[in-house]
Amino acid sequence: MVQLTLPTLLLSLVAALPAIHALPAATAPAVDPSTPFYLVTTSDKHSASASSSLKDVSATSLFDPYYQPNYLLRLIGPGYGSLPTFTLTDGVLHSPSSGPHGLGSYVYNSTAVAAGTELQFLAAAEGPGSLTLKKGVLAVGGETDGWTICAGPLGQEVIEYKGTDLSCVPTYIQAVSTPPY
Ligand SMILES: *[C@@H]1O[C@H](CO)[C@@H](O)[C@H](O)[C@H]1NC(C)=O
Repeated sequence: MVQLTLPTLLLSLVAALPAIHALPAATAPAVDPSTPFYLVTTSDKHSASASSSLKDVSATSLFDPYYQPNYLLRLIGPGYGSLPTFTLTDGVLHSPSSGPHGLGSYVYNSTAVAAGTELQFLAAAEGPGSLTLKKGVLAVGGETDGWTICAGPLGQEVIEYKGTDLSCVPTYIQAVSTPPY
């Protein structure tokens, strides 16, 4: 029979300490891909409990500079009127939006992601696609790296996948439940 003396009790407590320290710190609530979320760009690889505390965070908005059918995703600063929300199923992002010139209302769906081009959305059936959320971070084929912010039309910054233009800087895209600003 094991004698539970004070020294053995202390020893077992000390032995348990590293396990206690290994517990994860408070983590951000998991993003449910079927509940509408906002997309933000950030230099942070990991999600934060508040989107406003993400590094270099920017809200994003759908963008059709020339009233073209394929919408782009651009960065948008404070002072926006509203932000689009997204859901993700079957590897495809969905966002309800009006059509070009504000006419009609459609569910815009992300098209197949290709290196060197913008992330694009069409009012058309799409998929299955290659997009997933990994702990809230948007991934292509399971990889969260590869997204870039590049100079786009009308002086706006748009999202490309593996953009190669000199203007492009790497970024992560995160799904968040509240806008950062
Ligand atoms: C976009 O995809 C959704 C889900 O697959 C579908 O219900 C919707 O009709 C699609 N949008 C258009 C305009 O076809």
